[in-house]
Amino acid sequence: PTVVLAYSGGLDTSCILAWLIEKGYKVIAFVADVGQKEDFEKLKQKATKIGANKVIIEDLKQLFVEEYIWPAVQGGAIYEDRYLLGTALARPCIGQALMKTAKTEGANYVSHGATGKGNDQIRFELTCYALCPEIQVIAPWRMPEFYNTFTGRQDLITYAKNHNIPVPVSPKAPWSMDANLMHISYESGVLEDPAASPPDGLYLMTSDPKTASSHSDVIEIEFKQGLPVKVNNIIDGTTKENPLELFLYLNELGGKHGIGRIDIIENRFIGMKSRGCYETPAGTILYEAHLDLEIFTMDRELRKLKKYLAIKFSEQIYNGFWYSPECEFTRTCIAQSQSNVTGTVLLELYRGHVSIRSRSSPCSSYNQELVSMDVQGDYTPSDAGGFIRVNAVRLREHYRLKKRHCC
Ligand code: ARG
Ligand code: SIN
Repeated sequence: PTVVLAYSGGLDTSCILAWLIEKGYKVIAFVADVGQKEDFEKLKQKATKIGANKVIIEDLKQLFVEEYIWPAVQGGAIYEDRYLLGTALARPCIGQALMKTAKTEGANYVSHGATGKGNDQIRFELTCYALCPEIQVIAPWRMPEFYNTFTGRQDLITYAKNHNIPVPVSPKAPWSMDANLMHISYESGVLEDPAASPPDGLYLMTSDPKTASSHSDVIEIEFKQGLPVKVNNIIDGTTKENPLELFLYLNELGGKHGIGRIDIIENRFIGMKSRGCYETPAGTILYEAHLDLEIFTMDRELRKLKKYLAIKFSEQIYNGFWYSPECEFTRTCIAQSQSNVTGTVLLELYRGHVSIRSRSSPCSSYNQELVSMDVQGDYTPSDAGGFIRVNAVRLREHYRLKKRHCC
């Protein structure tokens, strides 16, 4: 039997690779390039040396930005008010590519290195079953014969040494990381104690805001229907339009200015709370810019509905339901809500902060004359008196009743 393994090159998936071969599988190692900083040639050699029949490296960066991150930007997708979903968005992207590979390679099995306690197993597998119902998933970290053999990192290292697997020479960071072009997440290990602050030097994508550059960058981001189409650096004239280049450029600027770090407790779909540290530089800049433009251009009542959908959308992404009828529906509605979210936002990036400086749009119902304190505009101030008195009817009755019963 043939199995396509989602291979990262780390110790876990390297041992899983060798273990699957020992179990009699023909293994195809699938490496998704979602923008993590890796030496993919080295990974290929490593997997081949361990015994993979084939190694497939697929560049998913452009697809990841355009098909997964962009809808999240339009949606203002943010889980539990803080997490911009960098890992959760990458999973369906990797998962669909894994399924395509399984189909073209005629494999009936896929495998991954996610643990049995987390979200990633759910996201991978829901994507697989949704897109290819006949596929069978091998999740070693949920199989007693695997987890009873590998009870800790030392077991993996011993096994690796006996199976031709190069063991990393530098001691592993005492936490788990997941990196892609949108973010790096850090959790478990020394981060498991929520009362302990993360160690200095944890973050790899962003500089420390305290010591970041003392020269701000001022940039203009242009949106069309809720999607970023151009970034223009006012200071040095750099412009970017291609989605991937634009996003990577914002990562560079956000990284330089220490933007997008968070340290949070979150609720996993499985039910437990977990502590994670994240850095999402470009995602944070785009979230702030998009929010500003959306409020500027969108009808108030429409936005209330959109906001409700955005919360649902974030849960769908986090819980692994990207490929589902409900998430297709939310994505369609959110995209439609963005028809007026067109315009430009000017922002300043400085020491961990994204400050909005100004915005402009041909699609905003902002009416300077109407709102002005200096001109009357198309408005009759005396009408407001009646508006307020009518609104007060309900309040007046509420407190009249309260007084009668409680005082
Ligand atoms: N807690 C985050 C999430 O559920 C990050 C998961 C990190 N995954 C990993 N394999 N280290 O999206
Ligand atoms: C894992 O359990 O493999 C990582 C964490 C998660 O998926 O939530």
